[in-house]
Amino acid sequence: RRKIIIDCDPGHDDAIAILLAAGNPKVELIGITTVAGNAELDKTTINALKVCEIAGLNEVPVAKGAAQPLVKKRETAADIHGDSGMDGPILPAPTKQILGEHAVDFIIQKLLESDGDITLVPTGPLTNIAMALRKEPAIVPKIREIVVMGGGTFGNWTPAAEFNIFVDAEAAKVVFESGVPLTMFGLDLTHQALATPEIQERIKAIDSPVSDFVVELLKFFMHTYKEVFGFDGAPIHDACCVMYCIDPSVFTCRKLNVEIETKGEFTYGMTVVDTLGVTGKEANVNVALGLDTDKFWSIMIDALSSYSDK
Ligand code: BDR
Ligand code: CA
Repeated sequence: RRKIIIDCDPGHDDAIAILLAAGNPKVELIGITTVAGNAELDKTTINALKVCEIAGLNEVPVAKGAAQPLVKKRETAADIHGDSGMDGPILPAPTKQILGEHAVDFIIQKLLESDGDITLVPTGPLTNIAMALRKEPAIVPKIREIVVMGGGTFGNWTPAAEFNIFVDAEAAKVVFESGVPLTMFGLDLTHQALATPEIQERIKAIDSPVSDFVVELLKFFMHTYKEVFGFDGAPIHDACCVMYCIDPSVFTCRKLNVEIETKGEFTYGMTVVDTLGVTGKEANVNVALGLDTDKFWSIMIDALSSYSDK
C-alpha cells in the first residue's frame, strides 16, 4: 500500500480526493493536513473534519497548517466553492479534533521517521509543503514523490495561472525547485476528469450516506462550473493525484521542464511548461497529460461504494 499524506483545502474535489484515498485498498492515508486556499484555513479545516466524520475516518489524523501564503495576500475561491469552501451538503459540526501539532511539523515528523516511502499529495496552495522543505531540508531525500494538483498550459484564475499555483507561487517555486520527484496534474489533465450528469447518476445509484454527500457536492460544484466557465460538468481535479497513487496506468505522462513564474505582470503563477523542449533544460517534472476516463470512473465508483458496507 502506498502511504500518502493529503495536504488540502477542501474544497469539493479535495473532499472527493480524500474519499477516494480512504476507499481504495492500494493507498494508505496516513494523514490529512490543511491549508488556506478555496476558503480561509478555519473553514478548510472544519471541512476536512466533516469529510472524515461522514466517511468514518476516525483514525486518520488531521493537522492544521498555514493560514496565509508565504509572501502574497490571501485569496479564496468563493465563486467556485461557496463561502464555506464546501457549500452544498449540509453536515453537522464535526466532533473530531485536530492534532495539537502544526501541519508543517506533522509532515516533517512523519517523513523523518519513515523509510522514504511517503508520497505527499498537495491539492491546495503549496504553502505547507514549501514551509516543511525550508524548515527541515533533511526531508528532501525522504519524500518518495510529490504528486501535485496545480498548473497546466493555461489558467483558470488568470489566463496564465491555475488557482493553487497562483495563490502561492513563491511556495510553488520552492517545491518545483526542491529536486524531489514531482508529478504534476495540471488543468490539461484534470479537465478530462469531468463529473458529468451521467457520472452523477452512477454515484447516486450507490445510495449511501457517503454517495449522497458526493452527489450534493457535485450538484453545487457542477452548478458553479456551469456559471463561471460554461462547463457541462465539474472537473474533479484533486482526485486525479490520488488516482495516480492508486494506479499510474490510468494516466499518460511526459517528463518536461517546468518553471514557476513569480514576476510576470500578466503571468504571475504560471507553470511554464517547455512542451517542445526549446530551452534544452533538464526535465524536472512528470507532467500528466492523458487520462483513461473509463478506468478513472470505475475505480472512483468502486471506492465510493466501499463506504456502503462500513
Ligand atoms: C484547484 O483549485 C481548487 O479550486 C480546486 O480544489 C483544485 O485544487 C483547481 O484549480
Ligand atoms: Ca483543492
